[in-house]
Amino acid sequence: MATVQMKVSPEDLSHLARGNERIPEPGILVVFGASGDLTKRKLLPALFHLEQSGLLPKEFAIVGVARRPLGSEFAADMRAGIVEFGGVDTTDPELDRFVERVSYYALSFDDASHYAGLKAELDRIAAERGIGGDRLFYLATAPEYFAPIIENLGVQGMAQPEQGRVGVVIEKPFGHDLDSARELNRQVNAVFHENQVFRIDHYLGKETVQNILVFRFGNGIFEPIWNRNYIDHVQITAAETLGVEGRGPFYERAGALRDVVQNHVMELLSFVAMEPPSSFDAEAVRREKVKAWRAIPPVPLQNAVRGQYGPGVVDGQKVVGYRDEERVNPESGTETFAAIKLGIENWRWAGVPFYLRAGKRLKKRATEISIQFKQPPLLIFNRMQSGGPCQDIQPNLLTIRIQPDEGIALRFGAKVPNTPNMSVCPVNMDFDYAAAFGASSANGYERLLLDAMLGDQTLFAHRDGVEVTWSLYTPILQAWAAKNPEVFPNYFAGSWGPDCADRLLEHSGHVWRNNLGGKS
Ligand code: BG6
Repeated sequence: MATVQMKVSPEDLSHLARGNERIPEPGILVVFGASGDLTKRKLLPALFHLEQSGLLPKEFAIVGVARRPLGSEFAADMRAGIVEFGGVDTTDPELDRFVERVSYYALSFDDASHYAGLKAELDRIAAERGIGGDRLFYLATAPEYFAPIIENLGVQGMAQPEQGRVGVVIEKPFGHDLDSARELNRQVNAVFHENQVFRIDHYLGKETVQNILVFRFGNGIFEPIWNRNYIDHVQITAAETLGVEGRGPFYERAGALRDVVQNHVMELLSFVAMEPPSSFDAEAVRREKVKAWRAIPPVPLQNAVRGQYGPGVVDGQKVVGYRDEERVNPESGTETFAAIKLGIENWRWAGVPFYLRAGKRLKKRATEISIQFKQPPLLIFNRMQSGGPCQDIQPNLLTIRIQPDEGIALRFGAKVPNTPNMSVCPVNMDFDYAAAFGASSANGYERLLLDAMLGDQTLFAHRDGVEVTWSLYTPILQAWAAKNPEVFPNYFAGSWGPDCADRLLEHSGHVWRNNLGGKS
C-alpha cells in the first residue's frame, strides 16, 4: 500500500514550538510519595525534559516528600531514574544542574504536626531562590493518603495563600466507586476550590489523544459524517501485553474496569463522542465531555463481561497466569480483562453501539479507536463472479492509533487495476506521526505537569466527570464483586481475551478488530 506523507521539517517544528512557549512562574512543585515508582519513572524524567526544553524557570524548585528519612540519596536516586527512564545520558551536564533543584523532606502524610515544618521548609526554599507564592502539590501517594494530606495542607493555610497560584494534582485512582469518589471530591473541595484541582489522567497528556480533537474540530470534512447517519459502530481497545508487573496487591483491589476502563478508555470515548466545544478551554471542553458521558444509559449487566488470564505465551515468552503472579490471591476473582457494550442516547449517537475493551497479557500492545462507517446503500460492485482477487467490499474504517505506531488510517475500496470486472480491494490512506513529524510523542506527563503549573485544567478531569463515569460502572463492579466468576482464568495469556467478549458483539453482527496496529 502506498502512502504519501507530508513531512514537517525540524526547523518548522522548532519555529512552531517557539511561538507557543508557555513558561510557568517560578514556583515550587511538592511531590508527595516521592520515593515511589511514579516519581522516578515518570515525573522526574518529564520534569527533566521540560528543563531541557527551557520550560522551567531557573529558580523553579522541586521538593520530594515521603515518610522515609532520606538525605542526598534521594537526589542520586532521582538522577538514576532520569537516566534509566528518561533515556538521558548519564554525563549530560544539564542533569547536575537539574538535580540541584531537587530536595527532599521527610514527613508522615497523616501526622498533622509535621506540616508546619513543611511549610517553613517551603518558605525557606522560596526565600533562598527568590520564588513567589506559586505552589503545586502533587499527590503521588497511595490513595488512602489523599484526604489526610489535603486536610493538613488546609489546616496549615497552604491551600489558600495570600499571594501566588496554588494547585493540587491528584493521581488516579480517584475513588474506588461512586461513593468513595464523591467523598473524596467533598474532602478536596472543602480545602481547594475546584479551579485549583488537577485530577490527572495521563492519557489526556498523549499527543494522539489530543489529536482526536484536532482531527474532529480542526478539519471541516469529518464532522458532517461523525454521527449515527454514517457511523455503524465504534470500538475502543486498550490492549497490553504486560501483566501486573509486581503490582499484585494494587491490582487485586483494582481490576481492569477500575484501572483502565473507568478512566483512560472513558476519556477516549468522550473525545470521540462529545459535541464541538465553543472554544478550547477547560470549561467548554469539560462541559461537553460530561454531557456525552451523561447521555450513556445504565449498562445492562449482560453487556459487561470480564476475563482473567491464565498461563500462556506473550511475545514468544512463557508467562504465568494471573493467579500465580506475586502477591496475588491464588483463587483471585479480579478481572484482568473487561469489555463493555454501551450506547449514547443523544441525537448524534442514538443506535450506534460503542464497544470498549481493555486487558492485560493480550496478544499485542495497542490502544486504538476504530470507527466503522455504514456500507453504501446499494452495493453495485460485489455481485461479480467468484475467483477475482477481492470480492468483499468492506465498510470504510477510520482507525486512530493512539499507541504505539501512532497515526490515523482510513480504509476505502479501490478498483483493482487491469481486471476485466470491477474488482474492489480495500486500501488505506495512512497518516503516520513519526513519518510526518519525525518525533516520538512525549509520555504525557510533560504536557500535564506544565499545564498544571500554568493553571490550565483543560486536560484534567472535572469533579462531575469523575462522578458520572463512576456512576456508570459502580453497579457493574458491585454485581461482579457479589459473584465470583465460575470459570476464571478464561483466556490464555497472549490471546485476544475470553470468548464472552466475542459473544458480546455477535448479536449485532459485529466482530472485534484484532488486526490492531495494522493499517486496515
Ligand atoms: C495505568 C494503569 O493507569 O495505565 C496500568 O494503572 C496501565 O495498569 C497503564 O498499564 C497503561 O498506560 P499506557 O500509557 O502504558 O497505556
